[in-house]
Amino acid sequence: MLVASCRPRDLHQEPFPGIVPRASYLLAGATGTARAFATSAQPMWKHALLTTAILAVIATLAGVVVVYGGLYGMSSTSPHLQPVFTVLEKAMHASVQLRARDIQAPPGLDDPATLQSGAVCFRQHCVQCHGGPGVAPDAIGKGMQPIPGSLVSAARDWTPGELYWITRHGLKMTGMPAWEFRLADQDLWALVGFLQRLPLMSPAAYATVLAPLRDRQCPSLEEVKTRNGSPPASGTDYPKGDAEQGRIALSQYACTSCHVIPGVTGGDIHVGPPLNGWARRQWIAGELPNTRANLIAWLRHPQRIDPLTAMPDLGVTQQHAENMAAYLGSLN
Ligand code: HEC
Ligand code: HEC
Repeated sequence: MLVASCRPRDLHQEPFPGIVPRASYLLAGATGTARAFATSAQPMWKHALLTTAILAVIATLAGVVVVYGGLYGMSSTSPHLQPVFTVLEKAMHASVQLRARDIQAPPGLDDPATLQSGAVCFRQHCVQCHGGPGVAPDAIGKGMQPIPGSLVSAARDWTPGELYWITRHGLKMTGMPAWEFRLADQDLWALVGFLQRLPLMSPAAYATVLAPLRDRQCPSLEEVKTRNGSPPASGTDYPKGDAEQGRIALSQYACTSCHVIPGVTGGDIHVGPPLNGWARRQWIAGELPNTRANLIAWLRHPQRIDPLTAMPDLGVTQQHAENMAAYLGSLN
């Protein structure tokens, strides 16, 4: 029916008989050109719009069937179709490039001490998924989808700023974790310095770099902060935390794996109590009056306050606990 009514009409015929009887003559009144426009172009324009609308409805229905009918394969043993993979990969590259465009690498990334720190952190936190020169990824890395690529040539594909951005923020929906809340900034950059060396590093050279560092650990962010002297975990004169940073920290410390928290994306999970209306709460876990300092103490070390609680110590730093407290305190 659509096709049939698209056939060229007699130019003198009214374009929309019975629908807009006089409007098209008004438009076409002045010249023959205008009349031709009004009689032939207008229906085409409307039909194009109608066709687009119908196609959009069909596409939406198809999407609903795929999503709610469970048709899209989610197993890690069935990779994305190649075109889907290519589009996602392209989108990921463009997204990283856009967000990392202003990041400048600090000087000294190829200092021997920095490279050693980078090597230690790489061995501890990256090899299990990405492997290293002459080293296979372990069971986790081999079973993931998308497969974490070898980082041996990553420095050829990405600028130092982009490597830093990816390592710091992670890649959503790939399994690439964010390290911002786990490692100090200097260690993130040390990793970048090490990644830049990797393309030229033989398996033998890699083993030689790591051999003398056998007993060294990559320090956690909490250890670095403690070493640099954090404020004590009790008292009332904390500087005010940053609620927006706190919202990010709440998902980066896996709080939403047990709690429903308004404004933080997560599932309908009730291992711990939901934290809505936190500012009006009188008690924390039935143990402590709900003050800012007590909340920070609970978030950092719940097991010290109640050794039998199911809430684990999650290694929350003082600063992150302050930020989370600021966010929770804003929930009325
Ligand atoms: C739990 C597994 C896992 C760990 C641990 C991990 N990554 Fe990844 N990483 C991934 C996955 C998955 C991707 C995405 C692969 C893809 O989409 O091509 C990725 C992608 C990357 C990329 C982009 C690579 C590219 O060219 O596609 C970089 C760079 C990277 N990771 C660096 C690191 C660094 C540095 C560490 C250690 C601090 C690390 N990753 C730890 C899983 C992991
Ligand atoms: C493994 C699950 C788990 C994780 C992860 C977890 N919690 Fe909890 N949380 C609990 C449980 C269970 C309780 C109840 C504890 C009790 O009453 O002894 C609780 C209690 C609390 C309370 C007190 C609630 C109330 O009603 O008094 C707060 C606040 C809280 N958690 C915040 C957090 C934050 C913030 C994080 C992330 C840093 C977090 N939780 C991570 C399980 C968890």
